Amino acid sequence: MPEPTLNVDADRLISRLLELGEIGAIPGTTGCARLALTDEDRAGRDLVRAWMTDLGLDITTDGIGNVIATMPHPSGLAPVMTGSHIDTVATGGRYDGNLGVLAGLEVIETVMAAGIELDRPLAVGWFTDEEGARFAPDMLGSLVYVGGMGLEEALEITDRDGVSVGDELDRIGYRGTAPIPGPAPHAFVELHIEQGPVLEDAGITIGAVEGVQGISWTELTISGQSCHAGTTPMRLRKDPGIVASRINVFVRELAERYGAAQVATCGVVTHVPNLVNVVPSQVTMTVDLRNTSEEVLRLAEAEFAAFVDEAAAAEGVTVESRSLARFEPVDFDPQVIDLVAATAERRGHSVLRMPSGAGHDAQMFARVCPTAMVFTPSVNGISHNVTEYTEPADLAAGADVLLDVLLALAGTDDA
Ligand code: GLV
Ligand code: MN
Ligand code: MN
Repeated sequence: MPEPTLNVDADRLISRLLELGEIGAIPGTTGCARLALTDEDRAGRDLVRAWMTDLGLDITTDGIGNVIATMPHPSGLAPVMTGSHIDTVATGGRYDGNLGVLAGLEVIETVMAAGIELDRPLAVGWFTDEEGARFAPDMLGSLVYVGGMGLEEALEITDRDGVSVGDELDRIGYRGTAPIPGPAPHAFVELHIEQGPVLEDAGITIGAVEGVQGISWTELTISGQSCHAGTTPMRLRKDPGIVASRINVFVRELAERYGAAQVATCGVVTHVPNLVNVVPSQVTMTVDLRNTSEEVLRLAEAEFAAFVDEAAAAEGVTVESRSLARFEPVDFDPQVIDLVAATAERRGHSVLRMPSGAGHDAQMFARVCPTAMVFTPSVNGISHNVTEYTEPADLAAGADVLLDVLLALAGTDDA
């Protein structure tokens, strides 16, 4: 491999990250709230699309609202694609997803400005509702793009207020006409912040991501008997709240028993009527189980389901269980992983091969083309939090590695 001759404009990348982060900015913090298909998401989409338009890229929007911008190219060949998401959780930061989209744009701008001729084009996309925080499952747009879920089914998914994906896409003007499933890229590489502590703890700059752990999301609706908190003897209670608490403790202990590869989280626990002196009638809760081993994840799911039945029976409440998301662990392409690692080393960076704890759009593209990811460190390992931060030097390092990897995959004599 020749020595790198080109760098991205890291200042331009960072100023775009900050400008996009102003949309949905959470007052008094550096955090961001742009839940999928909200007005804030629309404004973020409009801004990034304007940057894509300014560059003269060919822009398509498909039926689930994924937006893909491809550099004009005479070959008609499938592009090497990069990208990520620009929706955030409601208490998110400015880097999760946004980095991958804006670094992709930055790479394309750098390559075009340098007049580098590629054998095939580069494309950058953002994919609808990656977070799944409003509409489950997560990675919805990329799942639909690769044909993992039918468009009609996806459009009918509703949020907690009963509002559908299809109606929200129409409302914000992002239900497009590009075909679903979308055409398979030649290869897909996503740059993302790590969102955990591994790189920082090891003092390493670049993660060459080998795959993504399996994800299992379940929603439980636990129904009992609402009654007076002062007058109802404990022996007469059918309290869905205590069952929810027991489930929460159970999955924490399960994760501790299974060891570090297992994580477990009850992110939503909503009581009805949620009043100080009323035993709740109903609790809705979510359980997020993840493991790098499909076999172990299945064991965890089975233990969890058995405990839910046992805890409900003991209290005399009923439980409805609904799967919100279920994705098996994904392995990325060994050659693209090697390319990421070799490229980072050639740039003089320390590299760690590692799995991803978070879900990513890249895991969907792994179904249809050679795929891998580049990680950069997260300060204090914090993400899905307004304090999420990555040092400018690490952002630049990740974007330059992405640049070289995309050039190598697209084929050029200039890189
Ligand atoms: C998606 O970002 C997830 O990993 O929850
Ligand atoms: Mn993300
Ligand atoms: Mn996220």
